[in-house]
Amino acid sequence: MERTKFMTSHTSTIDDVPTRSFARSERMFSNAQQLMPGGVSSPVRAFRSVGGTPRFIAHGQGASITDVDGNSYIDYVLSWGPLILGHAHPAVVAAIVEQTRRGTTFGAPSELESELAALITHTMPAIEMVRFVSSGTEAAMSAIRLARAATGRSKVVKFAGCYHGHADAFLVQAGSGVATLGLPDSPGVSANVVADTLTAPFNDANAVEALCASQQVAAVVVEPVAGNMGLVLPQPGFLQALRDICTRTGTLLIFDEVMTGFRVALGGAQELYGIQPDLTCLGKVIGGGLPAAAYGGRREFMMRVAPAGPVYQAGTLSGNPLAMAAGITTLREISKPGVFAGLGRMTSALTSALERHATLADIPLVTSAVGSMWGFFFAPEPIHNFAEAKAHVNSVHFGAFFHAMLNAGVSLAPSAFESAFVSTMHDDQTLAATDHAMGQAIQVVREVSR
Ligand SMILES: Cc1ncc(COP(=O)(O)O)c(C=O)c1O
Repeated sequence: MERTKFMTSHTSTIDDVPTRSFARSERMFSNAQQLMPGGVSSPVRAFRSVGGTPRFIAHGQGASITDVDGNSYIDYVLSWGPLILGHAHPAVVAAIVEQTRRGTTFGAPSELESELAALITHTMPAIEMVRFVSSGTEAAMSAIRLARAATGRSKVVKFAGCYHGHADAFLVQAGSGVATLGLPDSPGVSANVVADTLTAPFNDANAVEALCASQQVAAVVVEPVAGNMGLVLPQPGFLQALRDICTRTGTLLIFDEVMTGFRVALGGAQELYGIQPDLTCLGKVIGGGLPAAAYGGRREFMMRVAPAGPVYQAGTLSGNPLAMAAGITTLREISKPGVFAGLGRMTSALTSALERHATLADIPLVTSAVGSMWGFFFAPEPIHNFAEAKAHVNSVHFGAFFHAMLNAGVSLAPSAFESAFVSTMHDDQTLAATDHAMGQAIQVVREVSR
């Protein structure tokens, strides 16, 4: 490839870095924009906050993806979390192919659902029963419906910067794409629907205490490790304080582990931090790369769900056999000894490497890692909540870093307010290549910071 001056979208240059062509992605994106809003099926994929053209992906294998122009990237997005075994893992592919031959959907019970349900309930003892749905949005939406029914109360407390999917009641100070695009709370969501949604700052148990003391709250819903405002860890004692407040006030504690379940530890954040929520939302990893999600929890609550009880919730493709087969295979693979220790070593190696480059270049940066999730902020000090993230994160630095990494063959989420992941297919070689790319990309950040 011709070696040229490297241009970031922020007009800085460093010598001797090849510029990759993505002409076919550009053509496809231009066509897609005529056919679909923003050219995408989910907003953050459109690169709005970092500028430039999203790469159209032709295929993925292991830890890497290849775009339609033939460029390969080490992938730390992993379809926004599900692919803990990497792309096209042979065991997952075999399970899906085998099930496809037997039929793709029945709209009737299959044993696969019970098999995946058993794996989940054995791994997360707080989940005594589970209901499968097709997306994390549905899981969170259904969990609060159940919490309202079980408590006879209507208010829900969520945390600013946490994302629980796009159900109306949650589109208040939401993270992920809502944060990335800097959207005010979405038009089309009526004031009535969000009147029952109360918000508190993440890591602020006192604020939750005040809300639960003054109002009848059905549920406190939290990402126990916040992954949708960048990666923000719970401060020591925060989750336990939520548990205590909820127990004291008869409020249900809902852990939204759509991202963290089978990700930060095999048993999710509830295992890692030793907290038993009343209800849990799962998604991403449990579908092994196919659309599956779930909510579950204590039997006394779950028995209220139709048809066992009156709380209605249903889905044509819920418990889809292909997704169940992919999920079962994925959970079996990651249950093998040593998997999470290996994933954890990789995320610490990545954050240490990035810190080393930033320190050498005198660029303010903070990082965090938990299990197979990692993240970083171009900020001078650790971030504890969404207000701090918005106030301190340098988005120009992030944009320059993001594009330089992409050009060096590393794919990160195109937003400063997302998390990164690793898979079991990342290895020393991919880590070394990423370390090298980080060094180059930090130099680009240094140039834009001058
Ligand atoms: C914590 C959390 N909850 C819910 C969702 C929504 O899941 P889905 O995109 O499958 O609807 C997400 C998606 O990123 C998430 O991270």
